[in-house]
Amino acid sequence: MTQKRIDRASWRHYNFTTIGRVDDYLYSMLPKRDTVLAEMEDYATEHKVPIVGPAVARVLQQLAMMTDARTVFELGSAIGYSTIWWAHAVGEKGRVFYTDSDKKNAERARGYFVRAGVADRIQVHVGDALEFLSEQKQEFDIVFNDVDKEDYPRVLRLADPRLRKGGLFITDNVLWSGRVAEKNPTDSRTKAILEFNRKLYDAPEFYTTILPIRDGLAVAVKK
Ligand SMILES: C[S@@+](CC[C@H](N)C(=O)[O-])C[C@H]1O[C@@H](n2cnc3c(N)ncnc32)[C@H](O)[C@@H]1O
Repeated sequence: MTQKRIDRASWRHYNFTTIGRVDDYLYSMLPKRDTVLAEMEDYATEHKVPIVGPAVARVLQQLAMMTDARTVFELGSAIGYSTIWWAHAVGEKGRVFYTDSDKKNAERARGYFVRAGVADRIQVHVGDALEFLSEQKQEFDIVFNDVDKEDYPRVLRLADPRLRKGGLFITDNVLWSGRVAEKNPTDSRTKAILEFNRKLYDAPEFYTTILPIRDGLAVAVKK
């Protein structure tokens, strides 16, 4: 049997029940979050704010630690949950750019940043994240993409020139609850994610892997 066929066979065996159980196990392994992060998780659940959650947030922080990242540009920050994880990762001298088009999200996020003791590391921008990124002159260690899915292909074009060599371009929701595996998807968000994933894997300037954690996290290293 070829490697591809072995991989497929083991994947079939790894059915949805197993995925659910493995997910529960992974979440049970996570250390308790501090008061502010725990409160944000509760708020997000209660108000249906789509945050990355603690399992993915931990990967984000770990990737920042591994690459000794000091500057992070985040597209789509909502109430600032992932932003706080980045802020902890970059350390006192680091800088994180928070961006969100919703003023109320930004107000709430600001309050959390102060309480988490990381407000001085975070620059808050309310408005279009893609426009703000395109106005930047500096190169970042990490660009994190979590905006509306239709914009993903455009974010790829904008992120590349703003990343340093060896920097990371990270994107959430690239498996889109499994809809990327549908035969002929018709909705525009799934189509945009499919286009994005294909282009990211094909881009000669990046080395990409999709981590199948939660809703799928694409991690691309700039060559
Ligand atoms: C998935 S949420 C971000 C969650 C956040 N990254 C976290 O995990 O804590 C997406 C956010 O992106 C914002 N957004 C979507 N498109 C945007 C754009 N073009 N510019 C700025 N913000 C945008 C929305 O307002 C929403 O709050």
